[in-house]
Amino acid sequence: MNSILLRTYLRTRSTTGTPASTFNLFRSTHTASVWSKVPQGPPDAILGITEAYKADTYADKINLGVGAYRDDNGKPYVLPSVKEAEFRLLEQLLDKEYAGISGVPAFTKLAALLAYSPDSSAIKENRLVITQSISGTGALRIGGEFLAKWYPHGRTIYVPNPTWANHGAVFRDSGLEVKSYRYYDKDTISLDLPGLLEDLSSAPEKSIILLHACAHNPTGVDPTPAQWREISKVAKDKGHFIFFDMAYQGFASGDADKDAFALRYFVEQGHQLVLAQSFAKNMGLYGERVGAFSLVVESADERKRVDSQLKIIVRPLYSNPPIHGARIAAEILGDKDLNFKWLSEVKTMADRIIEMRALLKNKLEQLGSKKNWSHITSQIGMFCYTGLTPEQVDTLKDKHSVYLTRDGRISVAGITSTNVGRLAEAIHDVTK
Ligand code: LMR
Repeated sequence: MNSILLRTYLRTRSTTGTPASTFNLFRSTHTASVWSKVPQGPPDAILGITEAYKADTYADKINLGVGAYRDDNGKPYVLPSVKEAEFRLLEQLLDKEYAGISGVPAFTKLAALLAYSPDSSAIKENRLVITQSISGTGALRIGGEFLAKWYPHGRTIYVPNPTWANHGAVFRDSGLEVKSYRYYDKDTISLDLPGLLEDLSSAPEKSIILLHACAHNPTGVDPTPAQWREISKVAKDKGHFIFFDMAYQGFASGDADKDAFALRYFVEQGHQLVLAQSFAKNMGLYGERVGAFSLVVESADERKRVDSQLKIIVRPLYSNPPIHGARIAAEILGDKDLNFKWLSEVKTMADRIIEMRALLKNKLEQLGSKKNWSHITSQIGMFCYTGLTPEQVDTLKDKHSVYLTRDGRISVAGITSTNVGRLAEAIHDVTK
């Protein structure tokens, strides 16, 4: 009972001596809650899986839901380069002052170099605006808001079908209308290039197009360099505006330069694009929320004006970003030895995922599965788009305590040499 109710209770009691009426008062006040009409929302398509997994008491449960790297013991992995960077930061006894609205300058400078490369004309000609963000999601949101406010040719963004489960909500909440273009061919379990090119060609001129720069989430199907060239050409011919989402640089192939091919090629081709970067996966900095949003612009004057508007978007959202993760990333990217160490760790993570893909495929074949599982090894990055139906996914959960998103995506990072056998048996059981 809050203090106002308690006071009313005491007053009523002293004058009438009938406390029951007070409880009626309490009940009627209680039912009139301002939140009584708030409906129950559905669990998040990805993070809700983690909640369901945690609630499962079965000892050998397997979580292949959220894309978070695990070592071969199924444990979260803090990269040794990250530990080293943190150690160095601790030694410096740095203060905890606010960062500027655009974040930690040493970080944003190095993040831009990692993505675009020092040879990029955008970097050399000082035609890049960049701001730190609350990881990749925050970068997408800043980008969405900026485009909704300032893009002069419409408010519609085209995203691939399928795409990351959060893209739609991020862009809609930013004020954009979300439409999709064909991306994935279920029958061939590969890129639907003709469909993609056709949809890009038939979209209105100067549309905003979201592209996953590498390790497409959820399908693990990326265009080849030759296909990227075709996509770039059609987009250029139609005057489309490109929004790259690069959440897995280094994670797809184990080579950060190779994974940045599409972004760098599009810049070379003169696309005036924007980019969302995340350091959650490639540095394992998930909870530190380290990311960046950048735009390629035309001139120094434009750079200043665009930068001022980014600040105007960020300030009322979260004022300025957290500093610790950004300092870690800057320490790694800015030190030659540590950078080298980090790149080899990214490669180790990428290689373990590649190894788990092969193991899962082999186990399924050994079990006598008649299905074609070649896509498990042909897809790249953290995810495998298995082709399992929502019903099969439900059975995996209910009968085998194996958790994945209902679109049939599995986070390969959750597979270990210990659980792969049981996983293969479970998948075989539901697909026989
Ligand atoms: C995922 O797709 O699982 C990750 O990007 C994590 C997330 O926030 O959804």
